[in-house]
Amino acid sequence: MRRHLLSVDDLSREDIERILRRAESFAEVSGREIKKVPTLRGRTVINLFYEASTRTSSSFELAAKRLSADLVSVKSSGSAVEKGESLKDTVQTLSAYDPAAIVIRSPQAGAAALVARWTRASVINAGDGKHEHPTQALLDLYTLKRRAGSLEGLRVWIVGDVLHSRVARSNILAFTRMGCGVTVCGPPTLIPRGIESLGCEVRYTLDELGKADAVYALRMQRERMTGSFVPSLREYAAQYQIDCRRLGPSQLLMHPGPVNRGVELAAEVIDSPQALITEQVESGVVVRMAVLYELLAGGGAPSPVRAPETEAPQPA
Ligand code: NCD
Repeated sequence: MRRHLLSVDDLSREDIERILRRAESFAEVSGREIKKVPTLRGRTVINLFYEASTRTSSSFELAAKRLSADLVSVKSSGSAVEKGESLKDTVQTLSAYDPAAIVIRSPQAGAAALVARWTRASVINAGDGKHEHPTQALLDLYTLKRRAGSLEGLRVWIVGDVLHSRVARSNILAFTRMGCGVTVCGPPTLIPRGIESLGCEVRYTLDELGKADAVYALRMQRERMTGSFVPSLREYAAQYQIDCRRLGPSQLLMHPGPVNRGVELAAEVIDSPQALITEQVESGVVVRMAVLYELLAGGGAPSPVRAPETEAPQPA
């Protein structure tokens, strides 16, 4: 595995499988009363978030703490970024602390790759504009695999604002790499031209949604929309909202959060047993522990992984 995690394309299928197995071993640690292992004791992890985040930032913080790393969390509001410090200067300043990893979220596509050029730390992309969000894709694979048993041959429909979604891009790459069949669906204005080249099919209506094993709904990314992409949210919901009429009883439902209740999802499906949304959040911690472990604690060269029961690290 490479030194940085910037894109799902940095990961082979074997890398992904190893991370998922590692996450499973950390799930065992998370079930203990003391949820901590000494793996990254004395190493520093910096979370650098230039964009709003609840799930990603809190789960990276918990992941670093449960691995016993020293953690510094910097948010653009309240930091020197507000005084106009550039990303490069901020990264060079924080690199003076000799961090082992920098986790970066930015509204700019390509920001994580730039950070990787300016620091000796391992860089983890926690979302760069509409480009990629690889750790979200990994936690989604982990969650779906746990519920469905196997990913091979599963049919996944990704529905909604694909155009502005880094989650869609990372997840199309990740699901197809793991043997799933991926279909993206939404209004033509919200499906990027040429998206099929990533290995998915495209539909503009939900007519064939019944073929899906799992439905992955996306949030309307209103903060990234400069013009008008749908006539109104109401009309969007009328055609594309996942509700209990459209979602069959054996289909699973996923969403990266935060959900616009009543827009992409109806309240009744969010709270249904088919929804994996809370499990996705829970998986975020163990999968991000596994990513930090792989990048910082010698996952480096592909190594044979023992069964989860035997490889769980001992408590601190
Ligand atoms: C996603 C993101 O920020 O890209 N959320 C997340 O990381 N949990 C999806 C979104 O904001 O819609």
